[in-house]
Amino acid sequence: MAPAPSSTYSAVTLNINGEKHTLTVDHRTTLLDALRERLDMTGTKKGCDQGQCGACTVLLDNRRAVACLQLAVAAEGREITTIEGVADGDQLHAVQQAFLDLDGYQCGYCTPGQICSAVAVIEEHAAGWPSAVTDDVRPEAGPPPLTAEEIRERMSGNLCRCGAYVSIVQAVARAAEADARARAVDGDRTADGSQAAKREGAAA
Ligand code: FES
Ligand code: FES
Repeated sequence: MAPAPSSTYSAVTLNINGEKHTLTVDHRTTLLDALRERLDMTGTKKGCDQGQCGACTVLLDNRRAVACLQLAVAAEGREITTIEGVADGDQLHAVQQAFLDLDGYQCGYCTPGQICSAVAVIEEHAAGWPSAVTDDVRPEAGPPPLTAEEIRERMSGNLCRCGAYVSIVQAVARAAEADARARAVDGDRTADGSQAAKREGAAA
């Protein structure tokens, strides 16, 4: 017997950019369509709709995912970040700023996916993840230099029909440098704090 129509729908609560959205969706609804068609969050773009172009890239629990291959019901309980949630209020993310400063786009259609991908690439690289072009993949080798070749490989899931690749690579490199400087400053602060705590402990 065919299932009742209502059995193909469920209420889901999606945590998007820190806000909860509850909606009823057909179980076959992709996260991409839920974002664009149901929640009017059209920053995430639909290109191929079959996992080939990267235009629909979002972050799920801070890792890259193509929203066209993700069912909305399967995204419940995950932390979803779209291009609308990358900036910190009026403060653009370093990747967004670098794309603007270095003209990392032409028509801009692929840009939200490129930026979401780049945000995750920088995190993955800082965490020491190797890529297919990394020479030394031993864990103790640490992150490889983020060369143009590394960036091209790590961003290879994001296609740009305008061919803005040269500027995109430059923008990712610049944002990664800014991120590395910020991490170094944070590391110094943490080290200073630990030493101060040790001194206070010794003096007590
Ligand atoms: S629209 Fe999702 S990968 Fe192309
Ligand atoms: S800027 Fe036009 S598709 Fe990439």
